[in-house]
Amino acid sequence: MPDFRSSIIYQIYPRSFNDSDGDGEGDLMGIIQKLDYLHDLGVDILWLSPIFQSPNADNGYDVSDYEAIQPAFGTMDDFDELLAGVHKRGMKLVLDLVVNHSSDEHPWFVESRKGKDNPYRDYYIWRAPKDGGFPNDWVSIFSGPAWTFDEATGEYYLHLFLDKQPDLNWENPKLRQDVYKMMRFWFDKGVDGFRMDVIPFLSKDQSFPNYPPGRFADASVYANGPRIHEFLQEMNREVLSRYDRGDGPPISIGEGIGVTAELANLYVGKDRHELDMIYHFDHAVPRDEHHFLKRAPEFTLLELKRVFDTWNVALEQEGGTGKGWQNIYFGNHDNPRVVSRFGDVEHYHYESATMLATVLLTQRGTPTIYQGDEIGMTNCQFNSIHEFNDVQVLNAYKALSGSAEFSDEAFLKSVNYIARDHARTPMQWFNERNAGFTTGRPWLNVNLNYTKINVADQQVRDDSILSFYKRLTRWRRKTPAIWDGTYNDLLPNHPTVWAYERVLDEERIVVLANFSDDEVYVPQVEAGEVILSNYASQSFTLQPFEARILVGY
Ligand code: GLC
Repeated sequence: MPDFRSSIIYQIYPRSFNDSDGDGEGDLMGIIQKLDYLHDLGVDILWLSPIFQSPNADNGYDVSDYEAIQPAFGTMDDFDELLAGVHKRGMKLVLDLVVNHSSDEHPWFVESRKGKDNPYRDYYIWRAPKDGGFPNDWVSIFSGPAWTFDEATGEYYLHLFLDKQPDLNWENPKLRQDVYKMMRFWFDKGVDGFRMDVIPFLSKDQSFPNYPPGRFADASVYANGPRIHEFLQEMNREVLSRYDRGDGPPISIGEGIGVTAELANLYVGKDRHELDMIYHFDHAVPRDEHHFLKRAPEFTLLELKRVFDTWNVALEQEGGTGKGWQNIYFGNHDNPRVVSRFGDVEHYHYESATMLATVLLTQRGTPTIYQGDEIGMTNCQFNSIHEFNDVQVLNAYKALSGSAEFSDEAFLKSVNYIARDHARTPMQWFNERNAGFTTGRPWLNVNLNYTKINVADQQVRDDSILSFYKRLTRWRRKTPAIWDGTYNDLLPNHPTVWAYERVLDEERIVVLANFSDDEVYVPQVEAGEVILSNYASQSFTLQPFEARILVGY
């Protein structure tokens, strides 16, 4: 079994992780200082959100030089030291590959916009106006039209995200070769893999049709274009497969935006030679523009179970493109805090955070722990629009503020639940000024609950969320049924208890998780001895947010 299946990933959002030099932004040295902490947590692979030079219009997801380190994060020497430190501790390092688009400040785009016959013109997607207006009706995921007119040459360029994030033209073989060259640069340094940003968007229907009827602003329209699998196979052939260091090719994780369970194996099926795994959006917090005034209701447990079941069944299918692998997450830098979504921060903070940890680390797939979730970091109270940094919030505010339904209260209410900034507030290390994240002024406000929720406090307590995570990661490491066993939902119709088994050969693990703050009668799922729980003792009922792992027949 390849390593990546039994591994645990930890996602670092570098700007918010740990600031070593007091400029208010996290940096690579700051990560180096915490490597022992991460190793002790029991994670195997560190994924860093982008660390490359960027004007930060979208916090590094707008890269202006793919082979340079963002100055606020440090230098290439710092990077080399970080990589060596990760390897020395037996962990792996995965970087973020953001190649659906670059920054408009990338030299390729600076050249491209200069003239129609510039050699870099075709590195981006330029179209003439249609009937005096936009080439089609697509809108940006960050509000407004997906096309921006450039006076210099009288054409529009495409940007599925910000106007400062022009989409690269993957139809152009020269662009593809330049991307592969850049990937080799990092692999030659010894990097262990890439998480690939919005990877299903790379290939676009070259006729650039309008939205199909009824699918206005639906991101899945941009995904799974006609040549996507050809491009990914080429990338695999020309780069990934050439860096097999004896324990398999580098790790590849696709951000599977717009990929349905039915399509998943086309990306990750075992004979496809594309990606190791993808993560889907089927349980992500919906954030289309209208959700900024009225958020969608949170997923019920029944809905969550259905999503997980559908994906497990789809990926397990034999034959054809079958038997693919997925990456499991509850939180990341694009979603609010998991304990604020599915837990009860006020009354059962420890219980609900540890229950969610139990589910995350026992599902079928490679789990990713998002920084701060291991101490149960929560959403933050934002009191005005000015407190937000995320361009998605700011743009939605601008776009909606003229509309009839708009009110400041409605907007604030919604973003206090759905905004990405909830996940981006600085990591809470100590109960001291700025949570010990920085000695300077943090780029984004620290959540004031750091006085209660912080690493230092949880490190010394056996009954903390952090200590529970450590017990879980250590137990998972020696439990093949969790890495590789089958998944079977034991009570698919129970509205508040998630009960499932993971079976491999003679080993059977049963997980019971109470997703409510009520006591629930323990459902009849024959099992054996309780080996891990977030309550000191068990009875016939599951206590509020209780999680139990049982082993044996
Ligand atoms: C991905 C990233 C997100 C970013 C977007 C554009 O969804 O995870 O943070 O804003 O792509 O690069």
